[in-house]
Amino acid sequence: MKTFPKFVPTPTPKVAHGRGSWVTDQDGNRVIDGSGGPAVYCLGHGDPRINEAIMAQLNQIAQGYRRFYTSDPLEQLEAFIRDRCGGGLTEILINSSGSEAVESCLKVALQYQQAIGQTDRTRFIARMRSYHGNTLGALSVSGYPMRRAAFEDSLLPVSFVSPASEYRPPEGVEPDQLVKFLANELEDEILRLGPETVCAFIFEPVVGAAGCVVPPPAGYAQAIQAVCQKYGVLLISDEVMSGAGRTGTWRALEPDQVVPDIMSVAKGLGGGYLPLAATVYQKKIGDVLTKKDGGLMSGHTFTAHTAACAAALKVQQIIQEENLLERVQSKGAWLGQSLKDALSDHPHVGDVRGRGFFWGVELVADKATKRPFARDLMIAERLGQTLREEGLLLYPVSGFGTAQAGDGVIIAPAYNAEDEVLEQIVGRTKRSIENLFG
Ligand SMILES: Cc1ncc(COP(=O)(O)O)c(C=O)c1O
Repeated sequence: MKTFPKFVPTPTPKVAHGRGSWVTDQDGNRVIDGSGGPAVYCLGHGDPRINEAIMAQLNQIAQGYRRFYTSDPLEQLEAFIRDRCGGGLTEILINSSGSEAVESCLKVALQYQQAIGQTDRTRFIARMRSYHGNTLGALSVSGYPMRRAAFEDSLLPVSFVSPASEYRPPEGVEPDQLVKFLANELEDEILRLGPETVCAFIFEPVVGAAGCVVPPPAGYAQAIQAVCQKYGVLLISDEVMSGAGRTGTWRALEPDQVVPDIMSVAKGLGGGYLPLAATVYQKKIGDVLTKKDGGLMSGHTFTAHTAACAAALKVQQIIQEENLLERVQSKGAWLGQSLKDALSDHPHVGDVRGRGFFWGVELVADKATKRPFARDLMIAERLGQTLREEGLLLYPVSGFGTAQAGDGVIIAPAYNAEDEVLEQIVGRTKRSIENLFG
């Protein structure tokens, strides 16, 4: 195997401007944004229609504080989310970040269990190789050792079960037994803790940064929902990264025909034009909270920020008017197949997996054993740099293989990225991987 010199990160350039899928830095370097940053910019950059919607709102008022006012953008955005979610998911709290959205998901669950008299149900179960956010509650339920390490002793007690990965299943588990194994494992953990102590199970329907994009095996979400329902455990779907159309359906759990009790959605909801996220939950939960406590006890100063709502509303209207979710489905299948055709034969490409416009390329030292590279080789970061030299930004991720190793990149183009841009993403990714290992 090639020996790599010591990794020296290049300085982070200053951004100048972005249009569509292209971003230019202050030195004039123009690159394709092939991952929408961390899977955020679902309509690319600089769309004048969204900028105008924001300006129009700013010219009226930036924010009507939520305890004093509601607003058209807020109410229209909420109606849109309700309509898109369906299945009784009618209650909405608009936040400013994915971590805030997840934090509120946890609080909805805790407050609900208290309100129905299940006062011992304070414990969460989550999965290894998951990421739910940076605040202490959201980090507590994140199975991401690298991001937890410095704070480990101050986090909430949380149980972790196995990730639902077909590429890296638990040892000795055959593919046709995977879903059954994972459902049994969750049930065993609930029983071990005592069902009367378990508040909720939280998971990413399609794992993002913590797994380098991991769609679940067929039937997984239904199987774990059945276990949760059996024991009165709430199901929280964290769709911060995978939701709002990224995987080809508005809710990432739609293909699994599962409606969660509570969910978070963020990045693609506002497309990164202004910070925005949402916590969405079942009407039956909302009714209980209203009756017992007068409503959900969560929220921040910038909750339901009016200009951010105007931006997200416009983003969602454009996606709807231009049938972009259909495009993500049809072109996503093309993108996935093209990435597999271009990359799968490479000796260090272990797996290419994903759904819609959300794909992960996992790099391995040994393809036969799936052994990851040693982390100190910084392969993901090196590839990120090589890609940039090739004029392509992808999202490097690490730490999801075995132990704390594992390297890969996430591909998450804008839903309206032109065919030519998608072709360039495939071609430049292939060339960069060849250059890195050549
Ligand atoms: C699945 C998931 N949940 C939560 C978060 C946290 O979101 P934020 O970084 O906006 O706080 C992220 C961020 O990447 C995420 O991918």
